Amino acid sequence: MPATVNVNGRVFDQDHAVISVFDHGFLYGDGVYETLRTYHGGLFLYDRHMRRLRTSADMLALAVPLSNEQIAARIGDTMRAAGLGHDREEAYVRIMVTRGIGDLSYDPAATPEPSVVVIVKPHADLPAGMTADGVKAALVPIVRNHPGSVNPLIKSNNLLNSALAMQEAVRRGAFEGIMRNYRGELAECSTSNLFVVRDGAALTPPLESGLLPGITREYLLEIGPEAGVPVREQVLRDPDLFDADECFLTSTTREIVPIVRVDDRIIGTGKPGPVTGALLAILKRKADELSQPVLERNG
Ligand code: PDD
Repeated sequence: MPATVNVNGRVFDQDHAVISVFDHGFLYGDGVYETLRTYHGGLFLYDRHMRRLRTSADMLALAVPLSNEQIAARIGDTMRAAGLGHDREEAYVRIMVTRGIGDLSYDPAATPEPSVVVIVKPHADLPAGMTADGVKAALVPIVRNHPGSVNPLIKSNNLLNSALAMQEAVRRGAFEGIMRNYRGELAECSTSNLFVVRDGAALTPPLESGLLPGITREYLLEIGPEAGVPVREQVLRDPDLFDADECFLTSTTREIVPIVRVDDRIIGTGKPGPVTGALLAILKRKADELSQPVLERNG
């Protein structure tokens, strides 16, 4: 995993990229992030990711010190240094904005300057077998954050809850961990959103169930009908999962991954279904058509 890292405007290889232990991102997980990937060297749905980054930061009263164009320029600089981009390997891009460096205090006055870090590394597609055969998920006992705590709407660097869910999934030999909310409704996975398919429609829990407003999730709600698939929000509970015709997860880096087993229960036929396939095909087509060349725009 050779990464190239932009720390506050300066580019380093992964062995030399460092940040102060007094950065409040390190001390308290006090910061926000976005994960993007490229298609044909271009960033997909960049404006939506930037909108969510700013919404997340606003919810923490954290100022993002750069414009979208300046952030794109930093991504471009880092991709160029990494040798990733057009006609080459696709890039994984993670942007982090933290509260910055300051004394050991929760008082925001301790940290006048936010830190901005961009990590770029080669994007690795999932093994083809995972899309072809589907994966196993685990329904874990870790409860997704209460909205009155660290609100799941915030894509925050404070990720221990999600890490605990994934640890439990790994212990059970699963690819992902599905979490419920404090009311017992299905919420989402540790790093992805959850969908079930019922009678030809794809259903995903509403934001009121307490989950990250995933960009892939939001986009499928819009483009699903173009693939002949109604996509709707609906409160979901365990039986909706176990009795689903199909099930899948979504994220920027993994696109759409069929879930064919949850713990020891088989979902649907136990094979990826046609609705999942139709949504994946249209998502890939849109990504191919719409990704914008960050290097050309900012190079
Ligand atoms: N994860 N839910 C959670 C908790 C997530 O962390 C993510 C994204 C998603 C899917 O959101 P999107 O479609 O915008 O990628 C849902 C990213 C990929 C990550 O953690 O790196």
